[in-house]
Amino acid sequence: MDVKSLIREIPDFPKPGILFRDITTLLRDPEGLRSTIDTLTEKCTDLAPDYIVGMESRGFIFGAPLAYKLGAGFIPVRKPGKLPAAVHTVEYELEYGTDKLEIHQDALRPGSRVLIVDDLIATGGTAAATASLVQQTGCELVGFGFIIELVDLSGRKLLPDIPIKTLFQF
Ligand code: PRP
Ligand code: ADE
Repeated sequence: MDVKSLIREIPDFPKPGILFRDITTLLRDPEGLRSTIDTLTEKCTDLAPDYIVGMESRGFIFGAPLAYKLGAGFIPVRKPGKLPAAVHTVEYELEYGTDKLEIHQDALRPGSRVLIVDDLIATGGTAAATASLVQQTGCELVGFGFIIELVDLSGRKLLPDIPIKTLFQF
């Protein structure tokens, strides 16, 4: 099955000049969804994470099932003001704007192995910001997992020199 072709492209969303890679058409396809989670799991098993850290909101969709499959815990990184306990905060740049992300200060056990998962890497700003949040907690960042990599934006240059697992390049 050609799972990559299930990802739809929408020109000029959310701003003129952005070619949006829409995963909703992959998610609604039962075989596409299962294949995506299974392939991500195969690629990430060797990293043996204790925790998957996933970013709001599309990182939750892939991060939680990956955590389940790997026998790891899932830690949400959220947009500001959503987490109820004490947080670490970081500001970051998007392909189309700026935003902040937060993680609970007590979410990760220091010294544990952490894999960061999101649906897509564009400029790398979100993933790099999340990496800095994880590093503030004293954990070992062991890798990154993305369903989609927008290669022309060179986002991986912003990331530390650890394994980056991706499924589809555009
Ligand atoms: C999208 C995507 C990644 C990020 C990638 O999230 O899900 O998290 O952008 O862009 P970058 O590599 O340039 O940082 P968005 O902030 O649009 O939020 P959403 O998941 O809630 O739609
Ligand atoms: N997040 C950042 N850039 C994106 C794009 N081009 N398509 C989908 N999600 C994105």
